Amino acid sequence: MIDTTKLTHLLPPKMRDRVDAYLEILSLFSHVRDPRVMAAMAPSGVRGLIFRRGKQGVPTKMPASHAVHFDWTYPSDMPEMHALYVRAKQGQWDGDTYLPWHTSVDPLNPEVPLLPAEFIDFEAMRTAFGIRLSAREQQKFLYSMATWTLSQFLHGEQGALFAAAQVTEAVQFFDGKLYGATQVMDEGRHVEVFHRYLDEKLHRVYQINDNLFVIIDSLMTDSRWDMKFLGMQIMIEGLALGAFGSLYKMTKEPLLRELLKMVIQDEARHVHYGVLALREHIAKELSESERREREDWAFEVALLMRNRFLAYEVYEEWFEGLVSRETWRRFASEVPGMQHFRQVMFSRLVPNLREIGLMSPRILSHYDKVGLMKYFGGQAADRLSGEQYLRELDLAA
Ligand SMILES: [Fe+2]
Ligand SMILES: [Fe+2]
Repeated sequence: MIDTTKLTHLLPPKMRDRVDAYLEILSLFSHVRDPRVMAAMAPSGVRGLIFRRGKQGVPTKMPASHAVHFDWTYPSDMPEMHALYVRAKQGQWDGDTYLPWHTSVDPLNPEVPLLPAEFIDFEAMRTAFGIRLSAREQQKFLYSMATWTLSQFLHGEQGALFAAAQVTEAVQFFDGKLYGATQVMDEGRHVEVFHRYLDEKLHRVYQINDNLFVIIDSLMTDSRWDMKFLGMQIMIEGLALGAFGSLYKMTKEPLLRELLKMVIQDEARHVHYGVLALREHIAKELSESERREREDWAFEVALLMRNRFLAYEVYEEWFEGLVSRETWRRFASEVPGMQHFRQVMFSRLVPNLREIGLMSPRILSHYDKVGLMKYFGGQAADRLSGEQYLRELDLAA
């Protein structure tokens, strides 16, 4: 990250924050070494970070083109995918009847917190911002953070729904297509339950975060199915699984816990499918140069995902004009709850990247530099079912 302090401290607050945002974009892209990765991501970066297309209040049209792969011989080509398909059919659930929607949710009730008070270090906030929040304001702030997080889950689920549909068309494994059909249904249900929870219980949806928009735009508009797959099934799904797990562990709100528990079991299958399909495809179908491009792309997306959790939308609502954007960034990256999120997310993601062959020795020093190598030895998704993952989370609670 470029140190913007010296450059911007003389500007008026509004202009200073705008310059800070542009410098942050420059900094994000300045270290991208592979020109193919830059060429693939830059247009999405411009649409998401500069034009902020996801925040215009109108539907977004993203042009998509990929080859639809038909096979008129209907082969049984991947027994492990077929087994996942069978499990997915048996694991379908109806959000209307499975979840206790009658639960009354008061997001400001400290007895049943959406997020624990320790999620934010309010003392550190007072020191950094010179602002002390009352007990009631602290509760409201935690409500904002919870609603923001769940809103990003909802937007990610919309991306997952469309990406799952595209990949179902494009993938070459026939067992994968059947499996993909169940994932489309799963993602539809996730959009439904997250939206219903936000709408009926929290009464608010935050706009999509710009970094999340860039990743979704980049994989929806890429015509190569394995890039979509890598972006959605490994990066976004892997990170979502970690984030859902982390929130499941932290929240005391019973309806949300139940909702997350059901979604986590579906998501674990989705990531498992991603690992199976890509491990095979990357090892057998791609040249070394193509593999390297995916390896670099995954690293850049991992960095974007890390930055996604800085909740600028919450900053704009609470502190814009009072505290500089840069001060918020420093504070938000140290928030205890966010650190926990990041830790659980990357402990899920990194082993999957290793398993599909996208963590060769050439990239390891980059992961090391951003502190992600400690997750290298973890269990990949094909060895960890949703039930096991939930058990682990419960045991660690
Ligand atoms: Fe999902
Ligand atoms: Fe998913």
